[in-house]
Amino acid sequence: MKYLIFGAYGQVGYELSKLCHCHDDCITLARDQVDFSKPGEIETRIDHYRPDIVINAVAYTAVDKAETEPSLAMMINAVAVKELARACHRRGIWCVHYSTDYVFNGTSNLPYKETDQVNPLGVYGQTKLAGERFIQEETDKYIIFRTSWVYSWRGANFVKTMLRLAGERDQISSVVQVMPLILHVQHWM
Ligand SMILES: NC(=O)c1ccc[n+]([C@@H]2O[C@H](COP(=O)([O-])OP(=O)(O)OC[C@H]3O[C@@H](n4cnc5c(N)ncnc54)[C@H](OP(=O)(O)O)[C@@H]3O)[C@@H](O)[C@H]2O)c1
Repeated sequence: MKYLIFGAYGQVGYELSKLCHCHDDCITLARDQVDFSKPGEIETRIDHYRPDIVINAVAYTAVDKAETEPSLAMMINAVAVKELARACHRRGIWCVHYSTDYVFNGTSNLPYKETDQVNPLGVYGQTKLAGERFIQEETDKYIIFRTSWVYSWRGANFVKTMLRLAGERDQISSVVQVMPLILHVQHWM
């Protein structure tokens, strides 16, 4: 099995890449090797490496900024994903893709099921949902993970922001649900 991972320096992509480097048949590509805002590059890369499985960990993940850059978010999260899924389908390659709970409106108190009604409230969620739909239209050999609250030591995430603020301030204001976690982290420090 030969794997090709896009998004090698993101939180998810980097962790996948570390696992991948234990195997000979695994290639990881970062933004400077393939830019998802430039159509055409993805298919060329897939043809060059000829993988059995493509894993897409690339995304425009700046949720707030996406409101002012909808075209770029759509290009990276949906249009490029369509190209990727189409290229995979034509070559019989499995397509593994990461999406988000932002495809829902967040009002449910229950764990989400795959079949729950989607209703993204912002540009980020809308573009991620468009990416999911393109994959489903373009190929039947796919896996889509709708993840939430991704943390790693790399990149920007909520835990790292809270740790930084905990070092700078006496008090942190945040949403009520996460306070036990923050207190726990402060206790460690
Ligand atoms: N973080 C979360 O809490 C969260 C929650 C739910 C779902 N997700 C989903 O999980 C997946 C992975 O998230 P993550 O936290 O690992 O994201 P991340 O750390 O922001 O990584 C995103 C990756 O995409 C790359 N990228 C962005 N624009 C690109 C472009 N034009 N061309 C090529 N590469 C580009 C980035 O490259 P650079 O390294 O060069 O910037 C980075 O490697 C995404 O699909 C995201 O939507 C994340």
